[in-house]
Amino acid sequence: MLWGGRFKEKLNEKALKFSSSLKFDINLLQEDIEGSIAHAEMLYSIRILTKDEADKIIGGLKKISEDWQNKSWQPDVEKFEDVHSAIESRLYELIGKAAGKLHTGRSRNDQITLDLILWIKKRCTLIVDSINELQKTLLEKSSIHIETLIPGYTHFQRAQPISLAFHFLAYVEMLERDKARFEFIKNNLSQSPLGSGALAGSTLPLDRNLTAQKLGFESPTGNALDSVSNRDFVLDYLHACSVGMMHLSRLSEEIIIWSTSEWNFIKLSDSFTTGSSLMPQKKNPDMAELIRGKTGRVYGNYIGFASTMKSLPLSYNRDLQEDKEPLFDSSFTYEDSLEIMNEMISTAEFNKDRFEKELQGDLSLATDLADWLVLKDVPFREAHKIVGNVVAKLESEGKNFSSASLDDLKSISEIFDESALKCFDMQSSLENKKTFGSPNLQIVKERINFLKQKLF
Ligand code: ARG
Repeated sequence: MLWGGRFKEKLNEKALKFSSSLKFDINLLQEDIEGSIAHAEMLYSIRILTKDEADKIIGGLKKISEDWQNKSWQPDVEKFEDVHSAIESRLYELIGKAAGKLHTGRSRNDQITLDLILWIKKRCTLIVDSINELQKTLLEKSSIHIETLIPGYTHFQRAQPISLAFHFLAYVEMLERDKARFEFIKNNLSQSPLGSGALAGSTLPLDRNLTAQKLGFESPTGNALDSVSNRDFVLDYLHACSVGMMHLSRLSEEIIIWSTSEWNFIKLSDSFTTGSSLMPQKKNPDMAELIRGKTGRVYGNYIGFASTMKSLPLSYNRDLQEDKEPLFDSSFTYEDSLEIMNEMISTAEFNKDRFEKELQGDLSLATDLADWLVLKDVPFREAHKIVGNVVAKLESEGKNFSSASLDDLKSISEIFDESALKCFDMQSSLENKKTFGSPNLQIVKERINFLKQKLF
């Protein structure tokens, strides 16, 4: 136990079980040891530890880390309050009395904040790499589906034709923003809280610049009270995971729709679908549904911990221990979802010609026809109305654009001529797009190349 001095009785067994965080903060073991090694090296540099003591402590800590990694040691989760006490007790077992000096000038309050920061920084790097992998898969698929036509929607009503490549590129852009969010969090964590003590620093001449530098920070934090109270970065991280999940969830929703018999557009690999125990014909997109479902839990983690924070007085309160379960849960869920999504898409097949015929002459070309009128100097509002009338006429006659004749158009407005009928070809609709960022085939090709150069 780390704090026995003034206590006559041991912590009640149930209370220990209720309050112990070891089951989950064991995830921070490596970071806790990294921080402790830097602290020990600093204590040696200011002559609080002798060379021999420092060597013993650092050797012992490294051994704990190795034994943990090769699974030859594991702390007893029933016995300890948290990862810090488990490590300290193990250090006593390994090196004896010298272990008692490691905690000089340090509180678990600055220690836990540091551990979390180090963990989150590593995780940001890992997640950025994983997002990058998903983007690469989307770009590979885009390259082979530049001309694969699909209906684009607004209000989930057919709006204008687009291509699968253009649709996937939208996700690549979203994922770029997701990466930027994690990069921001990582870069913003440039100050070390170590040496803040419980809340008000130390009377010992701890060299905070040295520990900051050893742990890869630019500088120590500027206020000890803020340092141990701060969990903003946990909320930033939970938020970044939530937005990331939301993007995966929207893609999941589309994959689910695309795999219905009505759409019949995507064929997911057997290895990423499940069957029904009752209906033999079923092939269910469970992975996509689970990503969509888990998004709710990841949102919950953010709002849950934000609520924990909202009326805590400075500085450390035990409530802060509630940061860990949501943090690990959101992170692991998002990391797994990224991997699953990546593999699900790379092994999926798309029905390239699915919409080729169905979209021929589709009324979703109406905007193109209005643009044709604009180029004949008709004000857009008037063009909109004329085309609206054309659509109403065709619909009432059970026709679409491909069965429309020039006479049909002329019966609404004399301004139409033969060239207007060219608007009704799907492929040329994409070719006719002029604006940067549009589904124009050439523009999409260039965007794919630009993004490939950036990401590969
Ligand atoms: N397990 C604690 C947490 O995760 C570590 C800090 C405990 N500090 C204390 N003074 N009780 O927040």
